[in-house]
Amino acid sequence: MEKMTPQVRKAVFPAAGLGTRFLPATKAQPKEMLPLVDKPLIQYAVEESVRSGIRDIIIVTGRGKSAIEDHFDVSFELENLLERRNRMDLLASVRRVSDMIDVSYIRQKEALGLGHAVLRARELVGQEPFAVVLSDDVIDAPKPCLQQLLDVYNEYGASVLALMEVPHDRISAYGVVAAEPVAFNGTSDRLYRVSDLVEKPPAHKAPSNLAIIGRYILTPDIFESIEQSQPGAGGEIQLTDALRHLLRTRPIYGYRFEGKRYDAGDKLGFLQATVEFALARPDLGGKFRTYLKSLKL
Ligand code: G1P
Repeated sequence: MEKMTPQVRKAVFPAAGLGTRFLPATKAQPKEMLPLVDKPLIQYAVEESVRSGIRDIIIVTGRGKSAIEDHFDVSFELENLLERRNRMDLLASVRRVSDMIDVSYIRQKEALGLGHAVLRARELVGQEPFAVVLSDDVIDAPKPCLQQLLDVYNEYGASVLALMEVPHDRISAYGVVAAEPVAFNGTSDRLYRVSDLVEKPPAHKAPSNLAIIGRYILTPDIFESIEQSQPGAGGEIQLTDALRHLLRTRPIYGYRFEGKRYDAGDKLGFLQATVEFALARPDLGGKFRTYLKSLKL
């Protein structure tokens, strides 16, 4: 019999954070617009979403974030100029950015936490399952991470979180799950049934080494759970706390995705992503490798 799991069509991109870790670069520029090689961070995340079949994008913005709206909009002057100069390759890459998605924006007036940001998208999402994508987490994977989560969602019809093993001394920077492995698609160490979640626990209280990474498939009942949530870690309305509330009535799964994740919200992670993405570029990789070798580190 056909399963009646509703399709995931929309993805929410929280982008109202202040970007304090990248000051002064983010004083007048959204951190989501910092470029890895020649593409802004948020474009990598949006492209992952498009490659996973989700074109309906909802970006939660705040003050000082208008560059994001301009980036995904049509730029007539620029397109006109490139056309006159016969720069068809650049024209195509600029057009693709605005053509690939249908995008809506909603403002989060105050940065009150990830849960609060997601709740702002409630009207635009409606009563359907949806994805949440944090563009700080850049994930390089042959099968897009979001698609990996969707495969689980399509099987179980329940919320799914991206998970990654993190060393003990880094675990307190993440949402952490307690979870039991479940056999899936011929694997027994990727899919987990979540039994508890805690946001940024001190290392000695972390229930495991499985951290939540910024990709989620959520069922719409999460909105009520967010409404029930009190400020948690850092005084913010946390998505992790709302998931814990949801867990009382609904199963939640976690998937230890295949791929390499960069924490581009952190300076070192950002530099690592920059180097590796540049090395992987056919037009730059060779020369860049030669340059790096010449540094004799
Ligand atoms: C957010 C989430 C956290 C998750 C992390 C992944 O935290 O609240 O649960 O582990 O993203 O990047 P943030 O990094 O925004 O503090």
